[in-house]
Amino acid sequence: MTKLLDMLGCRYPIIQGPIGEMNSPKLVAAICDAGAFGMLALGFISDLEEVKRLVKEARELTDKPFGANLSIMNPSTQGILEILADAGVKVVTTSVGSPRHIYPQIHTLGIKGIHVVLSLHHAITAVDAGADGLVISGLESGGLRSTNPESTTMVLVPLVVDHVNVPVVAAGGIADSRGYRAALALGAQGVQVGTRFIASEESIANQQWKNAILDCSDGDTTLLPQGNINARVIINPKLKEKLDNPNVDLSQEYNLMNAPQAWKSGDFDLFPASAGQVSALIKEIKPVKAIIEEMVSEGC
Ligand SMILES: Cc1cc2nc3c(=O)[nH]c(=O)nc-3n(C[C@H](O)[C@H](O)[C@H](O)COP(=O)(O)O)c2cc1C
Repeated sequence: MTKLLDMLGCRYPIIQGPIGEMNSPKLVAAICDAGAFGMLALGFISDLEEVKRLVKEARELTDKPFGANLSIMNPSTQGILEILADAGVKVVTTSVGSPRHIYPQIHTLGIKGIHVVLSLHHAITAVDAGADGLVISGLESGGLRSTNPESTTMVLVPLVVDHVNVPVVAAGGIADSRGYRAALALGAQGVQVGTRFIASEESIANQQWKNAILDCSDGDTTLLPQGNINARVIINPKLKEKLDNPNVDLSQEYNLMNAPQAWKSGDFDLFPASAGQVSALIKEIKPVKAIIEEMVSEGC
């Protein structure tokens, strides 16, 4: 048993990547029941009653352990942590922000925390701040990225593994048993999977979003500048037009605040669908149980 599996309390070291404020307790429960680690995405939720409802629903749907992702910048995080502790949640992941002050609070509540980082420097800082594990998110991942020069999962995971003494989880580019086994070979104890679970049967993502992932080939995602961050998105015809026009300032063209509405409605002119480069490998919508079982299979 690895330290990570011991911490998560599940069968397979596969963590559901949080997707903005998109929450489905049914998806969380399906992932847990298939042996992996389901997670609520609480990073952008400020309404504590909504948090209680999501936690209760997930708890009613599965007797397996599940976790939650928190954003350190979210002013409701302390209240959310207390709700999670009361509900018996034992592991959270933390994103976006300095982990220094939150880790003592997490530990006081009897919870373990895994911090999400995009670089070696931040990995070392997070361990110093008390993180019990790290999610190492490579450049190919879906979601928000920094504007710094970044490394791929293939480079960043072994680099961080060589410098820290806590379990490392690889995120970015993992959709099947090949990626899973590669991550373990790089020294990760587990993987975090985002895009592959968006394109699952149980995912509540809009059908157009799932189709956009299925239609992707290599080179069909790009980093869209959004002020001091980038968002990895799928290139659609409207975005392609802008990318081809040297007079367009992309950072002025889209507002990240529109992303939840765009993703809910499937109106990707409002904000493009977000997904990782691994979309190119995803050709079928499948139930999460089938995705997880294929991922942990020996493969060919
Ligand atoms: C649309 C979208 C939204 C995301 N939102 C979050 C988030 O709120 N917090 C977070 O820590 N990671 C977020 N991520 C990152 C995922 O949880 C996961 O780490 C990432 O998708 C892994 O890379 P993959 O897409 O190649 O599987 C998001 C990813 C996507 C595609």
